[in-house]
Amino acid sequence: MKPFLFLIIPLFVFADGYSSKRIDVAPVNNALYIQECGACHFAYQPGLLPENAWNTMMNELDNHFGVDASLLHEDFQTISAYLQQNSAEKNMQYKRSRKIVQSLPKNSIAKSISTTPYMIRKHDEIRPSLITQPEVKGLFNCKACHTTAQKGIYSERDINIPNFGRWED
Ligand code: HEC
Ligand code: HEC
Repeated sequence: MKPFLFLIIPLFVFADGYSSKRIDVAPVNNALYIQECGACHFAYQPGLLPENAWNTMMNELDNHFGVDASLLHEDFQTISAYLQQNSAEKNMQYKRSRKIVQSLPKNSIAKSISTTPYMIRKHDEIRPSLITQPEVKGLFNCKACHTTAQKGIYSERDINIPNFGRWED
């Protein structure tokens, strides 16, 4: 009984109605994408980058941020189509997708989500040592701070930075 209670209590703490219901980007809904593109890191929502950025990234998977993330031909086609159909421009009804697209200079191709002007601006008040600390490693690690990242919710109320805590603006 005791170990069971021990597991339950922290769940209640997180479910205390603190969480925001507003979805910032459309959640991922493709099992193959989660399996293949969520193997090494968080399965980033397609609505976090425009189509041209996804296409460029997919065409360079053999040298993906210094690692080989190549896919079988069939999986490559399925995932490329999924990213194209759900890219930020196709999701402009979601505030964050819209803001990311609008922040990019015309004809530019973003190299990553965390280096888009909107993301840089949104995170520029965080002490750099909190981003580079071992529990986070870098801005790419969305779910280290955004407890609801998997649901596509990036609300300030759902942030919990390791060794810092909740974000009060
Ligand atoms: C073999 C491991 C591996 C696989 C598989 C992989 N990635 Fe990555 N990815 C990385 C690494 C390493 C980085 C750099 C950041 C980090 O260290 O996590 C990265 C970074 C990224 C970023 C940039 C994050 C940012 O900073 O904004 C995106 C977007 C991304 N990957 C998408 C994908 C997609 C889409 C797939 C599936 C086609 C994929 N990744 C599969 C290892 C992988
Ligand atoms: C080190 C912790 C940390 C990491 C890692 C991080 N964020 Fe954040 N994020 C924050 C904080 C703190 C804020 C609020 C900043 C402010 O309001 O000044 C924020 C704000 C945001 C916002 C704006 C939310 C709002 O309501 O204005 C979005 C969207 C967002 N982050 C997405 C991401 C994504 C996507 C990633 C991964 C590519 C990421 N974040 C990585 C801490 C983090």
